[in-house]
Amino acid sequence: MNSQVWWRDAAIYQVYPRSFRDSNGDGEGDLQGVIEGLPYLADLGVDAIWLSPFYKSPNKDGGYDVSDPRDVDPRFGTLDDAAELIGAAHSRGLKLIVDIVPNHFSSEHEWFKEAIGSPRGSAARSRFHFYDGRGENGELPPNNWISVFRGPAWTRTPDGQWYLHLFDSSQPDLNWKNPDVSADFEKTLRFWLDLGVDGFRIDVAHGGAKDNILIDHPNPERLIDALRLDFLDISETERAGLLADVPFFDREGVHEIYRKWRAVLDEYSGDRMTVAEAFVYPSSRAARYVRPGELNQVFNFNFMMLGWDAAAMRASIEKTLAELIDVQAPATWVLNNHDTPRVVTRIGGARKARALAMLTHSLPGGIYIYQGEELGLPSVDLPDEARQDPAFIRSGGSDKGRDECRVPIPWIASEPNYGYGTGNPWLPQPDTWAQFAMDVEAQDPTSSLTLYKESLKLRHTHPALGGEGVLTWIDAPHGVMHFTREPGLEVVVNTLDTDVSMEVKGKSFLLQSASGSLLQDGVLTISANTTIWLQR
Ligand code: NOJ
Repeated sequence: MNSQVWWRDAAIYQVYPRSFRDSNGDGEGDLQGVIEGLPYLADLGVDAIWLSPFYKSPNKDGGYDVSDPRDVDPRFGTLDDAAELIGAAHSRGLKLIVDIVPNHFSSEHEWFKEAIGSPRGSAARSRFHFYDGRGENGELPPNNWISVFRGPAWTRTPDGQWYLHLFDSSQPDLNWKNPDVSADFEKTLRFWLDLGVDGFRIDVAHGGAKDNILIDHPNPERLIDALRLDFLDISETERAGLLADVPFFDREGVHEIYRKWRAVLDEYSGDRMTVAEAFVYPSSRAARYVRPGELNQVFNFNFMMLGWDAAAMRASIEKTLAELIDVQAPATWVLNNHDTPRVVTRIGGARKARALAMLTHSLPGGIYIYQGEELGLPSVDLPDEARQDPAFIRSGGSDKGRDECRVPIPWIASEPNYGYGTGNPWLPQPDTWAQFAMDVEAQDPTSSLTLYKESLKLRHTHPALGGEGVLTWIDAPHGVMHFTREPGLEVVVNTLDTDVSMEVKGKSFLLQSASGSLLQDGVLTISANTTIWLQR
């Protein structure tokens, strides 16, 4: 790391706690499991952990349906466990950031229960979006919006009104025009900051503010396709067109919320940070979330959705860096998360995924690693009976949902459930996963885990890596990316299925994503689908 401020070029590891490590044998991961995993994470060489939700929740959407944002769900442990985890992470030199979910609460939150029990037009209802329906007797929803998990974005209440939920019907959207909402979220921010967290990942950061709530959308079904991070069967042009002006996302009002949040975080010492999940188009709009006085980082989803294509990746890297320089924010590089196909599956195999990881690890800014990515885990083709994602349920199975990337990760090959825990894992693990277990990969110098450890170590020790320094492109053959990071590092990425030879005088190998390349008499023959770091 070369930045003065830790998060600007940190390697942040996403723990999806339900699938990380189960300490009490109930088949679901928990906070004590995360504590048990800290030595592994410290040894891996990451700088921080982003911990996905562990708050009180009926768990209809993997904990992103929060019924009490200032308490821990018993499935994960207790508030004492959370405090212990924060302390234990810090004592190993790891920062810890947690999720905050401002777009919606769970329908089990006391506010929503109160709202359902209160009359139309009441103060309790005005914390959410309750409207009368259309049609003669209000029997039709107030508009034609579709939930991100499919099906209508409105559900009717027993007294005939409808409430808005852009996600599951158990996730009513909050009305940010109501001051109770901002006051409550400020309380939540302070609650976790006081407990010692180093920052927040903001869920659906482009939600919150909503305009024109009663207006229909011309193409709601296709809009939802375009909004899904795991829906790749859409052209970039169509996606950009559909997402250019979404009535319920990326409205001007969200920025006011984040300026207030920034001021709260700045009251605390220790460079507390925020990272926005804001999937917005054109990508230049993402930079607006990280303007001075607002949030710190925004996930780079545009890069994440690209295929293994040198020209497209180069163009996206250039665009990202240029857009963020204007607002003085660092870039982030993300290859997958708990909502997307795993990178190995998305990009077409482990070899390409390793080369892609080494490319992103060499770029200026911060990186995010989703648990199991370092092991090279693929997505799992689960039987339908095992699937639990509301996207699968609400779509009647036509959308397979996101469980495929959430299968509990393998720790020790020879133990039951690969050492994840003694209970029956909440999603079945494939019987081929012993090869990916941490203990197996740790012994194998050619494993994905070994590669990640080496590259993360170099990010700490090599003066050209991390930081926000300049990246200078060098002309390269078709299908190859070639650039320098100063001082002394050159990066070559071959995205082709064939070897490529090129001149690179006076350099030696520093790290390679796969073996087989040759460097002789100033000529590099780089193997197919390989990234190489060269030292000058
Ligand atoms: C984004 C989260 O990453 C995802 O898992 C969740 O379903 C939605 N936001 C709704 O909170």
